[in-house]
Amino acid sequence: MKVLIVEDKENYLELLKDILDSEGIENIGVLRGKDAVEKIKRERFSAIISDLFLPDIDGFKILEEVKKRYPELPVIIITAFSSIERAVEAIKKGAYDFIPKPFEPEHLILKLKKAVETYNLKISKEAYEDKFENIEIIGESELLKKALEKLESVALTDSSVLLLGESGTGKELFAKKLHFLSKRRDFPFLSINCASIPEKLLETELFGYERGAFTGAYKTKRGKLEIAHQGTVFLDEIGDLPIELQPKLLKVLEEKSFERVGGTDKISVDVRFVFATNKNLREEVKKGNFREDLFFRISVFPIEIPPLREREGDIPLLVEHFIKKIGAKINKRVEGISPDALKLLKEYEWRGNIRELQNTIERAIIVSDGKLINKKDIFLYREDPELDFSGPLSDVLERVERFKIADAIKKFGDKKKAAEYLGINYKTLQSKISKYKIES
Ligand SMILES: Nc1ncnc2c1ncn2[C@@H]1O[C@H](COP(=O)(O)OP(=O)(O)OP(=O)(O)O)[C@@H](O)[C@H]1O
Ligand SMILES: [Mg+2]
Repeated sequence: MKVLIVEDKENYLELLKDILDSEGIENIGVLRGKDAVEKIKRERFSAIISDLFLPDIDGFKILEEVKKRYPELPVIIITAFSSIERAVEAIKKGAYDFIPKPFEPEHLILKLKKAVETYNLKISKEAYEDKFENIEIIGESELLKKALEKLESVALTDSSVLLLGESGTGKELFAKKLHFLSKRRDFPFLSINCASIPEKLLETELFGYERGAFTGAYKTKRGKLEIAHQGTVFLDEIGDLPIELQPKLLKVLEEKSFERVGGTDKISVDVRFVFATNKNLREEVKKGNFREDLFFRISVFPIEIPPLREREGDIPLLVEHFIKKIGAKINKRVEGISPDALKLLKEYEWRGNIRELQNTIERAIIVSDGKLINKKDIFLYREDPELDFSGPLSDVLERVERFKIADAIKKFGDKKKAAEYLGINYKTLQSKISKYKIES
C-alpha cells in the first residue's frame, strides 16, 4: 500500500505523514497540486489523501486527473468544517469520502484501510476479467494450442520471451496474455515498436533522459523501462532495433540497470521483457544488422505463432468470435455466415493473417443486409504485384493466367496435381509454363 498525501501546510503534511508512518503505511507527501498531478502520472498509488484548497491547482483538479487515469483509485478529501459543501461536491465528482478537520488519527486510518481494501478488490477483479474476457486468444488447432501451452509454461517465470510470427498472427495479443498470466499483471505493461520510432527518440523513450542532456531537455524524463518497473516491457519489431542501441539493451538485459541519456546514475529496474519480430533474426545476424550476443540473449525462450493458413481449422471459430465482437462494437448484429462464404474464407491465403481476417469480417458486417454474411459481402484483396489490370484485355488475361498457374504450382508442388486443379491437361500446362517462363 502506498498513499499520496497532498497538503499545502507543511506542518499539517508532516502530521499526516506521521500518522501513516506509525501504521507502517508507505506514503509520499507533496505540498503543491501540480506535484501531485505529476506523481499520479508517474507512480502507482493505492489511495490519495488530499486537501481541497491548494495554492496552485485545487483538489478538484487532482480528482479529475485521478478519475481520468485510475477511475477507481480512492481519493479521500480532508477539509475544514466550514467547507463541507465543497467536500460534498467533491464526492459527487467521484471522491471516495471526506474527513472534516479536526479528526482522530484512527478515524483516518480506518477510512483509508477500508478504501484501499475496496480498491484492491476492484482492480484484482478487473485484471481477472481482462485475463478471461479481453485477452481472449481464439483457436483450437493443435499448432495454436502448442504455442499457448508454451506461453503458459513460461508465464510465471521472469524469463524473456521471443514471439515469432508473420504480421497479424497475434504477437501483441500473446505478449499481453503473457503479462496477464504473470505475477506482474497488476503492474504496467508497456510496449514500444522499435521500427516505427526514429533512433534518437527510441533511445529516450526507452531509457529516458536527464535535464540538459540535449537542447530542449529542460526537464528530466523517465523512460519506459523505468516506468514499467515490476511490470512487462514489450519490444515489438526487435529485429529493427538500430545497431547502435543494441549494446545498451544487452546491458539492461544482463545487469538489470541502465543510465538515462545524459546521465551517470545507475537506475535499477525489475522488468520482464517480451520481444517480437517477423524477421528472421539469424539472417539479420548474418547480414550484420543484429548483434549475435543480443540474439542469443533474447532468444532463450522463442514461441512461434503459426500463420493462419496453417490452421484453417481456427477460421470458423475466429469468424464467429469477430462477428460477435465487431457486431457489438459497431452495433450491427448478424447471426452468422453462410457455408459458401465460410468456404471462401477457408481457402484464402491470409497473408495479413488474423488482422486481415478481422478486417474482412468488419467490412462484411458493414455491407451485409441480411441475417447472414454471404459470399457477396466478402472482399478479399488478392494483391499481387504481377496482377495488374491495366492495358488491353488480352494482356490482362495472360497476366491472370500466369498468376493462376504459378500459384497452383506453388500450392501443389506437383505439376500433375496443378494441371488437374486448373482443369487443363498436363501438356497444355507444360507449354504454358515455358511460355510464361515459370520456374518450379
Ligand atoms: N487467436 C486470436 N484470437 C482473437 N483475436 C486475435 C487472435 N490473434 C490475433 N487476434 C487479433 O488480430 C489482430 C492482430 O493481432 P496482433 O496485433 O496481436 O498481431 P501482430 O502479430 O502483433 O501483428 P503485426 O506483426 O502486424 O504487428 C488484433 O486485433 C488481435 O486482437
Ligand atoms: Mg504487432
